[in-house]
Amino acid sequence: MKTIKKHEIQTDRLLLRPFKRSDAPAMFGWASDHEVTRYLRFVPHKSVEESEKVISSWIEDETLPHSVNWAIVVRETGTVIGSAGVMTISPVDHKGEVGYCLSRSKWGKGYMSEALPYVLRHAFTYMGLHRIEAAHSLANAASGRVMEKAGMHKECSCLRHYYKSSLNGYQDSALYAVFSDTYEKL
Ligand SMILES: CC(C)(COP(=O)(O)OP(=O)(O)OC[C@H]1O[C@@H](n2cnc3c(N)ncnc32)[C@H](O)[C@@H]1OP(=O)(O)O)[C@@H](O)C(=O)NCCC(=O)NCCS
Repeated sequence: MKTIKKHEIQTDRLLLRPFKRSDAPAMFGWASDHEVTRYLRFVPHKSVEESEKVISSWIEDETLPHSVNWAIVVRETGTVIGSAGVMTISPVDHKGEVGYCLSRSKWGKGYMSEALPYVLRHAFTYMGLHRIEAAHSLANAASGRVMEKAGMHKECSCLRHYYKSSLNGYQDSALYAVFSDTYEKL
């Protein structure tokens, strides 16, 4: 597998760059929001310090080849509005998974649909991945639309795919995937 270096990505409106510890208050804004985290795997953050710890662990991870996490910044204002990441989930299969979230006030402006194709392209080009997956709760249709718009294809629905105690148990998901040799979005 290739070594991941610090990497910045520019899209029309966004800059995706490595997180800095000073991004903690911005992250706390979305990571503490129960609406944003409703379908996500982590428990809402309770303090800025918690967000800072997450960022520190990502900064320490940065030299490893298995994952990359970007802060999503609006270029025009410099505002940090969310995160997107890729994690290698099976090195031997060159298989990864993407995840993303945005501050609620920034939903519905096309930002994640703009960012995700670049994240996928980066993962194929610099992480040596062949297959990238993403799954969303069936109740979280907006995320499925973002995956479709980024060129991912729905493969199946998975029953009781992940556990979320605040949603009273196991969630059914839709599983999407995309492949390095057929990816044509960008
Ligand atoms: C999911 C999320 C990343 C979407 O980001 P976004 O920047 O608002 O998405 P975009 O504006 O790029 O696109 C959203 C698309 O979903 C559509 N959409 C929005 N709400 C929808 C709904 N309830 N049902 C179906 N489609 C919906 C929009 O119309 C748009 O599609 P279109 O461009 O064809 O009209 C954002 O809502 C978020 O951060 N949610 C919380 C975290 C999360 O759920 N992450 C994903 C976990 S799998």
